[in-house]
Amino acid sequence: MTFDPIPHAERRAAVFAELERRGGGVLLLPSAGEKLRNSTNEHLFRQDSDFHYLTGLDEPDSCALLSARPGERRFLLFVRPRDKEKEIWNGRRVGVEGATALLKADAAFTMADLEAELPRALDGAATLWYRLGGDAAWDQRIIGVLTALRGQGRAGKRPPAALADPGAVLHEQRLLKRPDEIALLRKAADLTAEGHFAAMRDGSAGRREFQVQAEIEYAFRRRGAAGPGYGTIVAAGANSTILHYRAGDDELRDGQVCLVDAGGEYGLYTADVTRTFPVSGKFSGAQRDLYQACLAAQAVAIAAVKPGATIDGIHALTVRALTEGLVGLGLLPGPVEARVAEGDALVKLTPGSPEEKSAPKGYRKYYMHRTSHWLGMDVHDVGEYVVGGASRPLMPGMVLTVEPGLYVAEDDETAPAALRGVGIRIEDDLLVTATGSENLTAAVPKEIADVEAACTR
Ligand code: GLY
Ligand code: MN
Ligand code: MN
Repeated sequence: MTFDPIPHAERRAAVFAELERRGGGVLLLPSAGEKLRNSTNEHLFRQDSDFHYLTGLDEPDSCALLSARPGERRFLLFVRPRDKEKEIWNGRRVGVEGATALLKADAAFTMADLEAELPRALDGAATLWYRLGGDAAWDQRIIGVLTALRGQGRAGKRPPAALADPGAVLHEQRLLKRPDEIALLRKAADLTAEGHFAAMRDGSAGRREFQVQAEIEYAFRRRGAAGPGYGTIVAAGANSTILHYRAGDDELRDGQVCLVDAGGEYGLYTADVTRTFPVSGKFSGAQRDLYQACLAAQAVAIAAVKPGATIDGIHALTVRALTEGLVGLGLLPGPVEARVAEGDALVKLTPGSPEEKSAPKGYRKYYMHRTSHWLGMDVHDVGEYVVGGASRPLMPGMVLTVEPGLYVAEDDETAPAALRGVGIRIEDDLLVTATGSENLTAAVPKEIADVEAACTR
């Protein structure tokens, strides 16, 4: 991808405007650092999402400052210096020149200049927008600068009067995706669809979970993804009922379902898609019924995604539909009205609260997670879920998942034998539009006939 500085400049302009609306100050954003995997080997570098969002720079050991003072906006970058020797070993660096010429910083320095420049930048700022707790060394550095400024009061120096979390500005902005971001999400969705087709095609009896994973990630990478946006789940048989299972080395067997939760990351934006398919290519009667109950609930949930709807409201509708399905399947006792009423009450309890923990399990025995989360650069993307004490209304430009599931434990003796050890999840990525929503991942088969057709070998 050729680098386009314009989207990052537009995002900075919006952040500057919001900082000004909130009294100005200096927003300080460190890049991600390199992390040792073992010995002298580093993990594959992945830039901090906030840092990439505002700068477009994908190098470690860097720092961005957005200074919003009365009548002045300045974007400063601190980067690694150019170094011929190091670049031969470890790759190119943008350097101070590139930071201004390419990344459009108003001024650029090396990281070695930070010690001198940071007190200058923070002196007299209304607010320091910096997220404490992300990195102990950075926290220490900031405390050092604030303490030094405080000690120079007689020389007219003054540390920022307030410390605020930049997430309040940045993450609310990231929650509303701009057209260039939606284009990247579409690309991630497209290559993710290819990965799921590959899984259905490849996931026949005798294959192992890691082999299916390899097919999926090959499809991602071949299309330009950096790789998966989160750990790929390929879960055969009863592994499908373990929510955070990763692709292991179990063999896929006829008669089992295989649950695949996989999304490719493109330009730092990820898709998040789950499909469940029959290893033999044909669902059994019982699997088909469980699948159809999950699919019906997902259809209800997707139809509810529109401006003004809430994630809590969508979850409540999903729970209702799943509960009706569970009663129909004999997994929950009737009458359906009573179970739906119980579910309605249960869904209102705060997750993890003592009331919720001590309440009868009801539908949660088979559906123990929530229906939606924000999606973007992070698979569980940033942005508040609750505003003013209530689930926030959806707005055009938000992207969320819709991912109902039904999981029957293999030792659930109350369940029909044919359903034990069967987990179904169906997950798509929804862009909220002016009138409703667009399913970005609609190309991945999910109707039973389409899934079985994609499993044709
Ligand atoms: N793949 C993570 C999730 O579905 O939330
Ligand atoms: Mn998800
Ligand atoms: Mn997922």
